Amino acid sequence: MSLNYSNQELHWNAHSLVQVAKKWRNLKEDFPLYLYSRKILQDRFQLFQKSFPKARIHFAVKSNHWQPLLKELKNLGSHVDVVSFGEAEAALEAGFTPEQILFSGVGKTKKELESAIKIQVYQINIEGDDELNRIIEIDQPVRVGLRWTPGLDAKTHPFIKTGHLDTKFGMSESDLLAMIEKIKKYPKIQLQGLSMHLGSQIQDMQDFKAAYLALKDLVNKCQTDFKNIDLGGGLGIFYESQDLNQDEKLLTEYKKVIDEVFFDSGLQILFEPGRFISARAGGLLTEVQAVKSTPKKKIIVVDAGMHQLIRPVLYEAYHGVFPLAESLKLEKADVVGPICESSDFLALDREVGQVQVKDLLWIADTGAYGSSMASRYNLRPEAKEVFIEDII
Ligand code: LLP
Repeated sequence: MSLNYSNQELHWNAHSLVQVAKKWRNLKEDFPLYLYSRKILQDRFQLFQKSFPKARIHFAVKSNHWQPLLKELKNLGSHVDVVSFGEAEAALEAGFTPEQILFSGVGKTKKELESAIKIQVYQINIEGDDELNRIIEIDQPVRVGLRWTPGLDAKTHPFIKTGHLDTKFGMSESDLLAMIEKIKKYPKIQLQGLSMHLGSQIQDMQDFKAAYLALKDLVNKCQTDFKNIDLGGGLGIFYESQDLNQDEKLLTEYKKVIDEVFFDSGLQILFEPGRFISARAGGLLTEVQAVKSTPKKKIIVVDAGMHQLIRPVLYEAYHGVFPLAESLKLEKADVVGPICESSDFLALDREVGQVQVKDLLWIADTGAYGSSMASRYNLRPEAKEVFIEDII
């Protein structure tokens, strides 16, 4: 349990968030604040690494592109998965080498491809024929993978599925087999392997198993001397619980599936995890600006909103909300942001406790797809980001 109350103060990874917030205020800094834990980030990365010691782990930069976090992961031995050349530049700035960069994404432009080929990234995952044609036009040595669509409807929110039949991502089996033949005519294009990404926040191991078994069959059908196989990201976490052992159990089940399906493949395995590594390593500290009562409910207005954390609005996603000072009397309320839209909320109808203006709330597990999806909507300031270890 990395989050708990002790002496009525909320503690995160054994640090009192009340004390941390005091220090932050003393530095004349504002809220909201994205707070990260180096320790939790390390634990999460190493957990994944220990489960798959021979694999290449390409952290999905889309889940968090904050430079200090990328640097930390680099030092831990991570590689990266990027979906734009902008993300590749962020990775390079953090010290990753081109050899550590895997370039995925459905709409890579000619300019992005030229840049990636020029620096010689480890692999570009091709998503369709138009992209291949752009690579052929560039006519330079390049290492590629082919992204396959498994045609499976994974159990997750519709907006974060990517492996179903009608998806914009990847290629069908027949298109992929035809592409292998086409690539043979271009010796500068070196085909290294197949890739897939079923979707995100997946907790059902049968979904992964079905997709990976089908991928293994496809590898055999391709009759090509592949070097690697890219299994994507997508492993979920239990946002409703602060018991991290549950995530760990899921990772163990995931490992079992991978070991069962690929134990004899002889191929280098690549992973592209984002959320599993970074989500638990971050939280958002936000200050209460107003407490309102309507005929039907209580509304807590805070200084963070959909501009900092869009997940609740976009995917009806759950993030735990905890007052820093333990409130013994729980009360239901909507926790909403300052943006001029009724869609701007962080949590609805939640037992938050009695809070007042200036109190601070902790929005849990925002290390993935929090700051990386933030906007300046309403021209509100960006939230600062800091490692808790650097201010205690
Ligand atoms: N690889 C590819 C090709 C992807 O498209 C993604 C995520 C990942 C890896 C990393 O997936 P992860 O391990 O983090 O599940 N904004 C949404 C999630 C969108 C994920 C998009 N692709 C959210 O906040 O839940």
